[in-house]
Amino acid sequence: MQEMPASRAYRLLEAGPVVLVATVRDGKPNVMTVGFHMVMQHTPPLIGCIIGPWDYSFGALRDSGECVIAIPTVDLAAKVVAIGNCSGETTDKFETFGLTSVPARDVVVPLVADCLANIECRVADTSLVDRYNLFILEAVRIWIDADRREKRTLHHRGDGTFTVDGRVIDLRERMVKWKYLQD
Ligand SMILES: Cc1cc2nc3c(=O)[nH]c(=O)nc-3n(C[C@H](O)[C@H](O)[C@H](O)COP(=O)(O)O)c2cc1C
Repeated sequence: MQEMPASRAYRLLEAGPVVLVATVRDGKPNVMTVGFHMVMQHTPPLIGCIIGPWDYSFGALRDSGECVIAIPTVDLAAKVVAIGNCSGETTDKFETFGLTSVPARDVVVPLVADCLANIECRVADTSLVDRYNLFILEAVRIWIDADRREKRTLHHRGDGTFTVDGRVIDLRERMVKWKYLQD
C-alpha cells in the first residue's frame, strides 16, 4: 500500500453518480453539476448535498427550499461538465445546453427531461449549511424514463475523470439480513 494525501479522500468516495441540481431563482430555472452528495436515510428519504455559497444555485435553494436532482447519463457527459463551468447568474443554462424542462408535480422547479431520472426535493434541514454547505433534502417524488436506451450513469473520480457504469452483479440471494430492500 502506498500513502496518498488525506485531503484526497474525496477521490475515492465521490464516485456516486454525478447529478444535475435544478433550482428556480427570480422565476428562472437554473441547473448546476454536483458530485458531493450522499443518501442519508431510507424513511423519510433524505439526501445530503453540498452546494457552495459561490454557486448561484445556493441562494435559490436556500430561499426557495426546493430543488430537483436530475441523473444524467454518459451521452450527456460533455454538457454535465460545461454546466459545472458556468453560472446561472450570467447564463441561461437550459437554453445554452438545449435542456428540456417539464413541470414537476410537487415543486416549482422543473424536471430535466433529458435525464434518466429526476428526484423532486424539499430542503428538510439547513442546520449544517453554514458550517459545511450541506443541505439535507427530502425526496418527495421520483420520475424515471424507463424507455431511455442509454442508462449508464457517470461517476466523477474527483479530478475531471469519470467512470461510466458497467456490469451489474446480482448478489440479492446473499443479502439475507436485508431482504426488505429488494421489493
Ligand atoms: C464534475 C463536477 C462536480 C461538481 N460538484 C460540485 C459539488 O458537489 N458542489 C458544488 O457546490 N459545486 C460543484 N461543482 C461546481 C458547480 O457545478 C459550479 O460551481 C457551477 O458553475 C455552479 O452553477 P451555478 O452558479 O449556476 O449555481 C461541480 C462541477 C463539476 C464539473
